[in-house]
Amino acid sequence: MPKDRTKISKCLFPAAGYGTRFLPATKAIQKEMLPVLTKPLLQYGVEEAISAGIETMAIVTGRGKRAIEDHFDVSYELEHQIKGTSKEHYLTEIRSVITKCTFSYTRQIEMKGLGHAILCGETLIGDEPFAVILADDLCDNNADSVLAQMVKLYEKYRCSIVAVEEIPPQDSNKYGVVAGREEEDGVLRVTDMVEKPDPKDAPSNLAIIGRYILTPDIFDILRETKPGKGGEIQITDALLAQAKEGRVIAYKFEGRRFDCGSVDGFVEATNYFYNKNRV
Ligand code: UTP
Repeated sequence: MPKDRTKISKCLFPAAGYGTRFLPATKAIQKEMLPVLTKPLLQYGVEEAISAGIETMAIVTGRGKRAIEDHFDVSYELEHQIKGTSKEHYLTEIRSVITKCTFSYTRQIEMKGLGHAILCGETLIGDEPFAVILADDLCDNNADSVLAQMVKLYEKYRCSIVAVEEIPPQDSNKYGVVAGREEEDGVLRVTDMVEKPDPKDAPSNLAIIGRYILTPDIFDILRETKPGKGGEIQITDALLAQAKEGRVIAYKFEGRRFDCGSVDGFVEATNYFYNKNRV
């Protein structure tokens, strides 16, 4: 049977970055394993993918950090120890994630940037549209998750989609920044995108955050993409090739997003979820 190319069934999680801003905590574990309250950032990401109807998780990891594989696996010793005790419920959530989903892994041998990490995921994704979650961008929403909103939008537009939010102009050099024509409320057809522009060169105040839906031709484009800003292979540069053909949508998502790749954002997220869970 031919593959249903309208359905997003896999989510890629690039998690091979050095996470230098969180050293020494990230010396032996990935930044994506840092917990907000009791749950690692990556588990929030996986739960968001599940909420968007996705059950196949593809994770790109780096050398020397194996915590992710162990987290999304059964720990028989631990299960045995707490079975039948009052502590058993602490494992309920992760157990349900492990039961529902399949996880596959590949390694990025050299950290050549996000675009390169996504290209490394090709063997796990194959020839179909897919979602990407950067788990250090933690999103929260009381209704549909950000990825669920984007999956719905994909059914309509059938092209690559980037989630964007308004940023203060002085922060443009931390993000990929897009410009475009309005298609409908909150949806732009992207005409330009620049990676980490100086505020004076930014085409707008709309920054790409860590949620994407990508069509599989992105892999061929990435293979040809030369290192850009910071000497890294940038997903923004590859997306610009699609945007020039009118094949990228920017979506102003509903919900809150925390930049947990920075200490300030991480603390903000921790306080937010602590207060939210307390009531
Ligand atoms: P960042 O730009 O936040 O980089 O990556 P980083 O290296 O993890 O963090 P700092 O700046 O050193 O503190 C954005 C996302 O892309 C992944 C990261 O894991 C993160 O999810 N990434 C980045 C890779 O998987 N490989 C890379 O080569 C670069």
